[in-house]
Amino acid sequence: VKAVAASARRVVHVAVDESGYDAHIGAGVLAELGTRIMALAPLGPVVIVTNPTVRALYGAAVESSLAGCGIGARIVEIPDGEQYKTLETLELIFDAALSSGADRSSVIVALGGGVVGDLAGFAAASLFRGVRLYMVPTTLLAQVDSSVGGKTGVNRPHGKNLVGAFHQPRGVLADTSTLATLSDREYRAGLAEVVKYGVILDKDLFDLLERESERVLARDEALLVEIVERCIAIKARVVERDEREAGLRRLLNFGHTVGHAIEKVTGYTRFLHGEAVAMGMVAAAKLSEQLGACESGVASRIERLLQALELPATISGDLGRQSLVDAVAFDKKVSGDKVIFVVVERIGHCVQREIDRGLIATAL
Ligand SMILES: NC(=O)c1ccc[n+]([C@@H]2O[C@H](COP(=O)([O-])OP(=O)(O)OC[C@H]3O[C@@H](n4cnc5c(N)ncnc54)[C@H](O)[C@@H]3O)[C@@H](O)[C@H]2O)c1
Ligand SMILES: [Zn+2]
Repeated sequence: VKAVAASARRVVHVAVDESGYDAHIGAGVLAELGTRIMALAPLGPVVIVTNPTVRALYGAAVESSLAGCGIGARIVEIPDGEQYKTLETLELIFDAALSSGADRSSVIVALGGGVVGDLAGFAAASLFRGVRLYMVPTTLLAQVDSSVGGKTGVNRPHGKNLVGAFHQPRGVLADTSTLATLSDREYRAGLAEVVKYGVILDKDLFDLLERESERVLARDEALLVEIVERCIAIKARVVERDEREAGLRRLLNFGHTVGHAIEKVTGYTRFLHGEAVAMGMVAAAKLSEQLGACESGVASRIERLLQALELPATISGDLGRQSLVDAVAFDKKVSGDKVIFVVVERIGHCVQREIDRGLIATAL
């Protein structure tokens, strides 16, 4: 990972495959899209995948940046919402791309949050057995998490993200000024993943969030650039060492075993993913304390930070504990009666442990 500091603009290199790719982070970097795409020559028809919400906000800026470089692009609008992260929507993208003359040298641009990114990414992984993908993430979650690392996919009735492919992008343009239009709730949900990076690998980031929680909530531009850069750098470091999630990458699941269970028992409607992860992180930290993996007080420190960031930290009493425990049993990370669980040893350092599923019941 190489981070080049330049006033309010940063570049993080992600060293995967032969050449790797760069993530450009900063306020206004969206205007560079045309130049970035031009650099991918030889260039076939460019296909932009987005949704009506994001298109209304940033579609014109994207089109004019591309037009400035002489690139005419086909915009494919997909419906807005997690419920549309399906094979049907994927077909819609394929058909729109094919009927607008896409070929093997086409580039698919994902303009939007994680849903758009996962769909456009899967389309890029499979159209002609793989065309190039360029990520333009516009939610905090997509900027710090889903736009880097190459995981793509769709949901099935059986569960989330069950069908997909690994397909790394050719570049990422994370324009922090797009975060200004996010709803408070979506923005804060993204912050939960930021807190997660602090807990698992970056104590300085955690300290920064504690110290500057008000500026973070106020979406201070300079601070956002720093935060997004740090998170992408951490994700890059993890993905470089474990692209296919054989080990280290699982650390990114801190708080997610319980978080996924919370999402599942509430039918994926009551909480945003980040909110469920926030509660899951506190539960995981409490369990870590019970296991003696960390000293007591770590869980309440995480809890205080989440509360300062206006995220839910305690699992509300009306969620049935038994159904949560059952839901944990269906999580992907389970083998037999054991669960691979990410425990915190201290802020900035987590490890994976195989623990008894019964222990989770006590922690809940
Ligand atoms: N591939 C990965 O590695 C990875 C990692 C984490 C999450 N994900 C996936 O990401 C998805 C969640 O992503 P998300 O949280 O970005 O949700 P999302 O894509 O649904 O976006 C949330 C909402 O914000 C809107 N929006 C997007 N950008 C906006 C902006 N700048 N201003 C105003 N509104 C904007 C969207 O239209 C949507 O309504 C899930 O499907 C999850 O599985 C993937
Ligand atoms: Zn997550």
